[in-house]
Amino acid sequence: MKILVTGGAGYIGSHTCVELLNRGMEVVVIDNLVNSSAKSLERVRQITGKSLEFYQKDVRDRAALDEIFDKHDINCVIHFAGLKAVGESVTMPLEYYDNNLYSTVILAEAMRDHGVKNIVFSSSATVYSADNTVPLKESSKTGMCTNPYGWTKYMNEQILRDSAKAIDDWSVVLLRYFNPIGAHSSGLIGEDPRGVPNNLMPYISQVAVGRRDHLNVFGNDYDTHDGTGVRDYIHVVDLARGHVAAIEYMQTHRGESVFNLGTGTGYSVLDMVHAFERVTGKKVPYEIVARRPGDIGTVYASPDKSAELLGWKAQYGLDEMCRDTWAWQSKNPMGYGE
Ligand code: NAD
Ligand code: UFG
Repeated sequence: MKILVTGGAGYIGSHTCVELLNRGMEVVVIDNLVNSSAKSLERVRQITGKSLEFYQKDVRDRAALDEIFDKHDINCVIHFAGLKAVGESVTMPLEYYDNNLYSTVILAEAMRDHGVKNIVFSSSATVYSADNTVPLKESSKTGMCTNPYGWTKYMNEQILRDSAKAIDDWSVVLLRYFNPIGAHSSGLIGEDPRGVPNNLMPYISQVAVGRRDHLNVFGNDYDTHDGTGVRDYIHVVDLARGHVAAIEYMQTHRGESVFNLGTGTGYSVLDMVHAFERVTGKKVPYEIVARRPGDIGTVYASPDKSAELLGWKAQYGLDEMCRDTWAWQSKNPMGYGE
C-alpha cells in the first residue's frame, strides 16, 4: 500500500513515516520545508533502513500533485502540511487561511480527479469549544475558536466532511490530536521548533540543554491540583501509530469519521517539570508569570472511541515521553542544525 504524506518532513509527519515504513507500507512525501528540514527524512531512512520518495513542493501546487498522483498509485493521503503557530496566526491570519485551507482544497480536488479515495487529516483538540466539560469526546461541542489557526482546523474538518458526503466512495478520518511530545527512542528525529518554542515540552528541553535560562510557567491560579494548566500529553510515536490504525480502519469504512488521539490523562505544567527533572537528572529552573491569553485550565481527551473503533490506545507514559524528548534534545542540541 502506498501512502502520500503531506508535511512528512515535519515533527509528527517524520515519526509517522517511520511507523508506515515499519509496517511495510510505501511512502511518498510532499513538503515545502517551510517549517522543517530534509534531514529528518534522511534520519527516517536511517532508522527504518527503507527508502521513501520526497518531493520538495508546496501542496497548493496543483501541477506537482498531478505529477505525484500520475506517477504513484496512492491508496491514502495523510495531510499534515500546515502552519501551526497559534500566536503567529493571530498576526498573519491571511497567510494561515491561504496555506491551511487552500492546501486542503487543492489536495482534495486533485485526489477526486485522480480517483484517490482515502484521506486522514491532522486536526486538533483546539476545535473543541472552551465551555465543554472534560474529558472531551468526539461529540463535544466544537467551534468558537480563539484564533485563526484553530479556525483553519475547524474549517478544514468541514471541507473534508462535505467532500466525503459528495464524492462517491470517499473515506475521511479526522484525527484530533491532544498534546504530542517526545521523540523516536533513537533520538534521531524529534521536534525542532524555529525560534523561541511556543509549546511547553520543547521549552523545557531547551532549558535543560542550556539554550534558555528558565521556563516561564503561565499562571498558577487555575482550578487544578497545583494551579498550573493541565493537558493531555501523548507520545508522538503513539500518535504516529494512531495514523496506521486509521488507515487500516479506512479499508473497511467509508464516509466521515472523527477520533481523538490522546491518553485520557492530564498532567499539569509542574507535573511535567518534575517528571522531566526526575527522568533526566537535569534541573529546569522556572518562574511563575501571568496566564497566557487564550489558555484554559484543563484539557484532556476521552480516548474511548479510538480504543473501541480503531483498536488504538497510547502505550507510552510520562517517563518515556520525557526520556525520549531528552534523547533527541541532548543528541541534537540545535535540532537539525539549520
Ligand atoms: P510541523 O510544522 O513540524 O510539520 C508541518 C509540515 O508541513 C512542515 O514540515 C512544513 O514544512 C510543511 N508545510 C506547511 N505548509 C506546507 C505547504 N503549503 N506545502 C507543503 N508543505 C507544507 O508540525 P507538526 O507538529 O508535525 O504538525 C503536523 C500537523 O499536525 C499540522 O497540521 C498541525 O497543525 C497538526 N497538529 C499539531 C499539533 C502539535 O502540537 N504539534 C497539535 C494538533 C495538531
Ligand atoms: N506553558 C507554560 N510555559 C510555556 C509554554 C506553555 O507554562 O513556555 C503551559 C501553557 O500555559 C499550558 C501548557 O503549558 O498550560 C501547555 O501549553 P502548550 O503551548 O504546550 O500546549 P497548548 O495545549 O496550549 O496548545 C496545544 C497546541 C496548539 C493547539 C492546542 C489545543 O500547541 O496548537 O494544543 O489543541 F491549538
